[in-house]
Amino acid sequence: MSAHRYDSIMYKVLILGGGGREHALAWKIGQSRLCQQIFVAPGNAGTDIIAENLDLNLMDFDQIKETVDRLEIDYLIVGPEAPLVAGIQDYFSDHQVKVIGPSKVAAQLEGSKAFAKQFMRSFNIPTAGYIEVTKDNLAEGLAHIAEVKGQIVLKADGLAAGKGVIILESKKKAKKVLKEMIDGKFGAASSTVVIEDFLDGVEFSVFVLTDGKNYRLLPIAKDYKRIGEGNKGLNTGGMGAISPVGFVDDKMMHQVIEDIIEPTIEGLQILEYDYKGIIFLGLIAVKGKPYVIEYNCRLGDPETEVILPRLDSDLMALFVAMHDGTLDQQDVRFTKNAAATVMLVSGGYPEAYEKGKTIRLDPKINDAIIFHAGTKRTAGEVVTNGGRVIAVTSLAKSHKKAVKKSLANINKIHFDQMYYRKDIGQDV
Ligand code: AMP
Ligand code: GLY
Repeated sequence: MSAHRYDSIMYKVLILGGGGREHALAWKIGQSRLCQQIFVAPGNAGTDIIAENLDLNLMDFDQIKETVDRLEIDYLIVGPEAPLVAGIQDYFSDHQVKVIGPSKVAAQLEGSKAFAKQFMRSFNIPTAGYIEVTKDNLAEGLAHIAEVKGQIVLKADGLAAGKGVIILESKKKAKKVLKEMIDGKFGAASSTVVIEDFLDGVEFSVFVLTDGKNYRLLPIAKDYKRIGEGNKGLNTGGMGAISPVGFVDDKMMHQVIEDIIEPTIEGLQILEYDYKGIIFLGLIAVKGKPYVIEYNCRLGDPETEVILPRLDSDLMALFVAMHDGTLDQQDVRFTKNAAATVMLVSGGYPEAYEKGKTIRLDPKINDAIIFHAGTKRTAGEVVTNGGRVIAVTSLAKSHKKAVKKSLANINKIHFDQMYYRKDIGQDV
């Protein structure tokens, strides 16, 4: 069976989400010879140029089904984690639409830190040591903190909008925060807390496509989570990203594959989990050895904005093969050129910020790709509609040169209180 089999087939695709990741997905899938039409829900002012935006609630599966039926959608590509963790794949398991994303139980790898830790422990996958704490063994948790040497990592078990990981120096503060978390600081998401050993190293992200038994790697990336230059200040969804990542050499990747990716896929098979989707590994290299910081069950944002522009293969063909269980027959090819993306954000983000600022975008963008994130079209103009507004991606011989190109193009984009980091990729 070769890729030719699909030559005459064209699919209708619905992408769920409305960020830079989903604009990049729509942009890449739009280049596929297998794609007939793309819808994005809710989308943004960028996706509405290359696809049709739909106003859907991503957690209302009945509403999504009605739309899938009416528009005869063939593939549902799920951008963010929340619908996956809530079971959108299971909801459509008897439906003709093909969902790219894992089943509800497998999505617990992202949806529950305790579940992910137990999975890694069962399959001997390197990760930080930990204990699990609930109100029933709070005393054990407090005693554990008293014993920890160095920083203390507290993680809310469930999804907490990226805020559920708290790293503290002071044992006294850590005990207080642990109690607050158990008492509902993050609602039900923190009724279980994972206390983890602190790992000191450099982080990077590996994205794996899988059909549940075969896998293929996408380009490696690194994102910049902190709001401030020099990696200072509050955590954000991501202020920029680069791909590839220089310090991740063949030896490191060999360990990632052997010690982490293969045992993960094997674990999913042993547990008979349905996983036709993306495994996003948040990794940290400590003294030359990779450890898993977290699993995610989707693509990263803004990592997608650097990975997909480097991908030479047909992404839709890869998704089709992931669903059909034929990923072993696909090659993933990508350009040697490096990519960098710089995120333009609203002033005040990641805390309070205003929306509705007019965006002026000079059409003479030179050799960069503009991925919209929090934008929308109103009365003929494009306005800001979120904290992360636009990702500016460039390709060049090195990621430093790519960042330069993005920065030169950012001079052609304006909105009131626009902020961005000029130092993406400068530390590696
Ligand atoms: P997560 O939400 O699991 O990605 O965690 C957010 C961030 O916290 C990660 O990107 C790391 O920078 C940091 N982090 C999480 N776990 C650890 C750990 N065990 N040791 C050191 N840093 C960590
Ligand atoms: N950039 C990190 C994430 O998408 O979770």
